[in-house]
Amino acid sequence: MTISKKLQKWVDECANLCKPDSIHWCDGSEEEYQNMAQLLIKNGSAKKLNESKRPNCYYSASDPSDVARVEDRTFICSKNKDDAGPTNNWKDPEEMKKILNGLFDGCMKGRTMYVIPFSMGPLGSNIAHIGVQLTDSPYVVMNMKIMTRMGSKVLDILGDGDFVPCLHSVGYPLTDGKKDVAWPCNKEKYIVHFPEERSIWSFGSGYGGNALLGKKCFALRIASVMARDQGWMAEHMLIVGITSPEGVKKYIAAAFPSACGKTNLAMLTPSIPGWKVETVGDDIAWMKFGEDGRLYAINPEYGFFGVAPGTSMDTNGNAMKSMEKNSYFTNVALTEDGDVWWEGMTKDKPKHLTDWHGKEWTPDSETPSSHPNSRFTAPASQCPVIDKDWENPKGVPISAILFGGRRATVVPLVNEALSWQHGTFLGASVSSEMTAAAVGGKGQVRHDPFAMLPFCGYHMGDYFNHWLNIGKKADASKLPKIFYVNWFRKDENGKFIWPGYGENIRVLKWIFERLDGKNNFEDKPYGRIPAKNSLDISGLKLGEKDIDKLFDISIEDGISEALELREYFKKFGDKLPKELTKELDDLQERYNKL
Ligand code: GTP
Ligand code: SPV
Ligand code: MN
Repeated sequence: MTISKKLQKWVDECANLCKPDSIHWCDGSEEEYQNMAQLLIKNGSAKKLNESKRPNCYYSASDPSDVARVEDRTFICSKNKDDAGPTNNWKDPEEMKKILNGLFDGCMKGRTMYVIPFSMGPLGSNIAHIGVQLTDSPYVVMNMKIMTRMGSKVLDILGDGDFVPCLHSVGYPLTDGKKDVAWPCNKEKYIVHFPEERSIWSFGSGYGGNALLGKKCFALRIASVMARDQGWMAEHMLIVGITSPEGVKKYIAAAFPSACGKTNLAMLTPSIPGWKVETVGDDIAWMKFGEDGRLYAINPEYGFFGVAPGTSMDTNGNAMKSMEKNSYFTNVALTEDGDVWWEGMTKDKPKHLTDWHGKEWTPDSETPSSHPNSRFTAPASQCPVIDKDWENPKGVPISAILFGGRRATVVPLVNEALSWQHGTFLGASVSSEMTAAAVGGKGQVRHDPFAMLPFCGYHMGDYFNHWLNIGKKADASKLPKIFYVNWFRKDENGKFIWPGYGENIRVLKWIFERLDGKNNFEDKPYGRIPAKNSLDISGLKLGEKDIDKLFDISIEDGISEALELREYFKKFGDKLPKELTKELDDLQERYNKL
């Protein structure tokens, strides 16, 4: 293990502050992973699942107060408030450091501080970036091993190079012989980013994006700042390869808000014959221009941290197969024979379960057996349809970018942008019903531009501008085409109209044909939709009326959406690019002409 002076100095400083009983440098070995598991099991924090059902799998239930990302406790502490913008929480970095230094002082007493060197992106690739996370949670160590490439090999590559320092504590010191609990955490939570320093401090939570700092904190919030400065893109996007029956392959990236279908689209099983889907990534894309002028994407992650409820052999068989072994399950239910279950996994509910609270559960129980944001952590390499180029450091060339969200009304099944600038406008206009992936507000429609609202590390107006600049820099003919999709339109009875999941290939097929220049579209004020009979619905139970409903937007609704968007855009003040105002004017103009 090579440890640079810089790294040693930072670890020493953090140890002086956090005062752990000991320090463990993670080598990333299997033996170390099993030792962590034993520690957790001994503490009552984890269970091993039935080895014959789910080999080498573990389970934890969190504290009921620590189940999802905490957006109101997430801060972007840039030197100037204006650099964080109107969509982020901000505090002066020096003031914040004072608060954090107070909270972190002695926060690891009675515990071990683990040092986790990790690489976001393939080891040694020039696209990859290295981080080092310090944490007092063995659960985090195990999950980071699945989600990132981690251990001593990362230190060897790092040498004395730059890394993103990520300090994490669950905030539950074992002072004066205090006994540990199964899921230590703290009522007070701070998920803090210092964009100029490119550092992360996370206190009080052990769950998901609050605690696995390579993911949202680094690969999106800090990386978005790096991307702005260096001319690339860090996006909340899945990456998927699609091959047509003719054997033509194209890669697509898609940004949907949390729990809005990225993992599912990334590995869908096509319902129509001849089409093939292969997974590159399910949550985050880093994109750069290649020498040929096209945009190339890599998945900086190494695993999936996927929403469990709703995942089944019918909806997402490839995810189910990815988590058959070597996986970690959090906040799902346990079956009598030591396996896992969650709502939607099977049509028949098990007669008896232990729910995520550790209580007896039967189908008559009034509460779900699993938390709605319960998750599986599974190695990406175990996905049966993982793309052969998923670790290619050059990335894969992107032909289309999709935006989408959960909207019961007003937003059509699919809509094509007229240009990169119009596509940027569509990205900026994304709104979606809130989900259990973040604490609070479930079901409310909110604006979530580019599905980046909780993840953009700087002023959202500057981010819009960055997107426009990418477009201006590029050869327009080589840029990905942009589309907006919505799988979540509901009928009068509150039922989803579109069957979704594997049937989404039908929409991808139309997009594929558009990319090939097929004239199978019809103009609407908001963009281009499939012309009559050009969306392949063969074999679906949907009638023509249902299809019409999926695309139905009254002129009044369209105009009121545009007016509402104009109101929202005011938030960005003079940072709102004039190009987006122009797109909005043009949209209203097109409606006025009807
Ligand atoms: P994050 O990991 O939070 O970023 O979520 P995600 O965007 O990857 O969402 P995911 O694919 O895990 O899906 C979230 C929920 O939406 C799950 O319960 C899915 O079953 C459900 N879902 C996904 N795709 C579809 C779809 O096409 N139609 C419907 N009705 N539900 C879907
Ligand atoms: C999301 O919320 O978008 C997730 C889950 O992917 S978490 O890792 O908790 O951010
Ligand atoms: Mn996500």
